[in-house]
Amino acid sequence: MAAAGRLSFSNITALAPMVRVGTLPMRLLALDYGADVVYCEELIDIKMAKCQRVVNDVLETVDFVAPDERVMFRTCEREKGRVVFQMGTADPERALVVARLVEPDVAAIDVNMGCPKEYSTKGGMGAALLSDPDKIEAILRKLVAGVSIPITCKIRILPSLDETVSLVQRIEQTGVAAVAVHGRLKDERPRHPLHLDYIQAAAGAVSIPVIANGGSLDLVKTNKDIEDFRRTSGASSVMLARAAMWNASVFRAGGPLPLETVMEDYLKHAIRYNNHAFNTKYCLCQMLRDKVESPLGRRVQAAQTSAEISEALGLQEFYQQTQDKLQARRDAAHSGGAP
Ligand code: FNR
Repeated sequence: MAAAGRLSFSNITALAPMVRVGTLPMRLLALDYGADVVYCEELIDIKMAKCQRVVNDVLETVDFVAPDERVMFRTCEREKGRVVFQMGTADPERALVVARLVEPDVAAIDVNMGCPKEYSTKGGMGAALLSDPDKIEAILRKLVAGVSIPITCKIRILPSLDETVSLVQRIEQTGVAAVAVHGRLKDERPRHPLHLDYIQAAAGAVSIPVIANGGSLDLVKTNKDIEDFRRTSGASSVMLARAAMWNASVFRAGGPLPLETVMEDYLKHAIRYNNHAFNTKYCLCQMLRDKVESPLGRRVQAAQTSAEISEALGLQEFYQQTQDKLQARRDAAHSGGAP
């Protein structure tokens, strides 16, 4: 049993880590709709190590700010206890520096061992780690010993069942709290069929929770499919990436919501937490998918600022009211009084 307050990865449904998509508004949206745990986008250790932790009293967030003033990671009270910080790393020492930096503000730390994209594999990170199990072990042991929150990792499968099973068993030995298994080989694309048998073998070979991943295209279209995926994979938990990116209400036990509603709910979080307009637009376009050329899609595509995006979705009033509230807080902070 996990100690009280410590995030458990048993029998959970999670929002998967997704570069650009897994920023604060999407994580809050997934939580609203019923996700138990939300992973942030992969953040690279070298960049994070240069960040400063800043308490943002106006937004009521904690921000990790890069030297060029970019906010690399923003979190808030609402997701405390449920947000997993995913790190890209190939260096145990540096991983620990970053883990200690974010430890007070996140519920767990995950190491990306499955991303085949170049920005991740360069320097031996992401899926490159899969061919260096000694490095995997060194990183995970260092983190498990060095911080008090749970450590997890996310892998892809290896070419044979035996190799995959050996790897997850070796990972379990490091003391991690769970392992997410994306049931595809390093060189397979997201459209390739999932190897459910590999996830089953992994789940049967270890006693820590295995989190099944990779089912968005064929297996998980609605909320009830999540339970089927859990059962057929034999895994304790399920993690969704694309299904959630397309329509995060897949997490809703009460059934899916229309895309327009989901986009509005998303945008309200983006406005409330001052999300970067480019990022907001990117996420909305991912949701629109084949509707990106529809009248609504065109309006979103033409928008350049948060105000314009709000107008495209008919949320200009919400946008203005939120700006007024935030400005009042800024003014109060400057005058030293209460908002
Ligand atoms: C991803 N994926 C991913 N994986 C990871 O470990 N860290 C990351 O930052 C990202 N980034 C990312 C961005 C986007 C836009 C997508 C679609 C995917 C992979 C993702 O977490 C997941 O493993 C795969 O998408 C398979 O799961 P689904 O989509 O079938 O649920």
